[in-house]
Amino acid sequence: MTRTAAIIGGGVIGGGWAARFLLAGWDVRIFDPDPEAKRKIGEVLANARRSLPGLSDVALPPEGALSFHETMSDAVAGAAWIQESVPERLELKQKVYQTLQQHCDADAVIGSSTSGFKPSELQGSTTRPGQIAVAHPFNPVYLLPVVELVTTEQNAPEFAELAQDILRGIGMYPLHVRKEIDAHVADRLLEAVWREALWLVRDGIATTKEIDDVIRFGFGLRWAQMGLFETYRIAGGEAGMKHFLAQFGPALKWPWTKLMDVPEFTDELVDLIAGQSDDQSGARSIRDLERIRDNNLVAMMRALKGQNWGAGALLVEQDKRMKQGTALAARAVDGGDLSGPILTLDRAVPLDWTDYNGHMTESRYLDAFALATDRFMEFVGCDADYIASGGSYFTAESHIRHLDEVHAGAGISIRTQMLLGEGKKLHLFHSMFEGERLLATGEHFLLHVSLETRRPCPPGDQVAEGLQKVAGAHRHLPYPDGAGRSIKTPGQSASRKG
Ligand SMILES: NC(=O)c1ccc[n+]([C@@H]2O[C@H](COP(=O)([O-])OP(=O)(O)OC[C@H]3O[C@@H](n4cnc5c(N)ncnc54)[C@H](O)[C@@H]3O)[C@@H](O)[C@H]2O)c1
Repeated sequence: MTRTAAIIGGGVIGGGWAARFLLAGWDVRIFDPDPEAKRKIGEVLANARRSLPGLSDVALPPEGALSFHETMSDAVAGAAWIQESVPERLELKQKVYQTLQQHCDADAVIGSSTSGFKPSELQGSTTRPGQIAVAHPFNPVYLLPVVELVTTEQNAPEFAELAQDILRGIGMYPLHVRKEIDAHVADRLLEAVWREALWLVRDGIATTKEIDDVIRFGFGLRWAQMGLFETYRIAGGEAGMKHFLAQFGPALKWPWTKLMDVPEFTDELVDLIAGQSDDQSGARSIRDLERIRDNNLVAMMRALKGQNWGAGALLVEQDKRMKQGTALAARAVDGGDLSGPILTLDRAVPLDWTDYNGHMTESRYLDAFALATDRFMEFVGCDADYIASGGSYFTAESHIRHLDEVHAGAGISIRTQMLLGEGKKLHLFHSMFEGERLLATGEHFLLHVSLETRRPCPPGDQVAEGLQKVAGAHRHLPYPDGAGRSIKTPGQSASRKG
């Protein structure tokens, strides 16, 4: 299968899909008649490049090639995935499929971003209905993982499998909805909440800001990590879900909801909502709001990653897959490359590692070097099992030199030279690069300790052997520039009393 995607319609959603595929290493071909499409996609891509790569603890593959095409036929030729994200008009979407099916491969997947149409409506009068399905994503497509994949009996099971494999491969979470329904699953839920919210504003019960506050200070936080049913199960106390249903079930029959009614969009109501929204958020541009949203999403997803939960657990799994077969997966004893300093970190700078100056914050250099030290320890055999058996290294001293700036999303790598690895002593020298540019060095002195006595002691055989192998190879490396230094103020010495 070629790793080429065609994006038909490159607006808010199409631009997000383009970024997803490109950053996962796919070539991306775009068709959009809007003369502004290139600029708009460029802006979405810039947002994606600063936020997405840092979600992973390993480097993403090199970006694919991006190209813009004058015709739809040119864009779709040879593509394995075609994502339609044109405006939400059924006859327009059907016309697009008729044209593109004349030029695309018969085994390509055609996904539609439609928020509301059923796949059978899209497949309608097309030549090969079996290659069309709904692939409904969420904005921003480059950060939010879920995609509702909605199929019909026209789609073969192998087609649905292939579509899910490709979506997983670009870091997404396909939810296969096997029974089609208007607006799929998520937009059904969102529309219910949206209708209620419109009534609350229209009836003067709450403002747009108050409604947003009740979500973001309350149940929105619960939803983001456990969803609806798991949250309610807990709300039922020890008796769980059955108790919850018994307690709150009857309330569903009370006349709380206006769900089936929609408030009429009179000029007065539109002005009321738009005015309140301006008061709430008008001081910031849409671009600023997008950046704030992305910063928050990255921070939340990385926090969930630390808990190995929900969207964070997905990132953990994805990292494991991406690590396989790379230098970071190899152990010294298994024949890792010892001919030079060892690759101990290869990742992008996460958004939450940057500060008000826009570059990587000081303390994060230590974070990165600590990760590199952990990786080196694992490399020489001081892995999770060894640590569980009672031995580990404690850091006694660190010296970091900050040599150059680096920004969110940039790819950084660390190479580690062992200056000493004898008995209980371990002396490491890390060099951090962006490409060939040296950004910082970190020199660390560690002591092997018994986790029982908390006192220094020589390492066990497994680690001693690993260290010996590295020492044999690194003995021939030149002593690194900048090693063995600490900060000295001219004219002062340690003995001078102030
Ligand atoms: N905006 C959202 O939050 C969201 C979320 C999920 C799904 N969707 C769905 O995604 C689709 C696109 O929505 P959007 O918000 O990106 O709209 P948009 O208006 O931002 O983008 C639509 C793009 O399609 C282009 N276009 C118009 N006719 C075309 C044609 N014949 N061929 C190729 N390109 C054409 C337009 O120039 C525009 O750039 C809709 O089906 C929508 O329901 C939207």
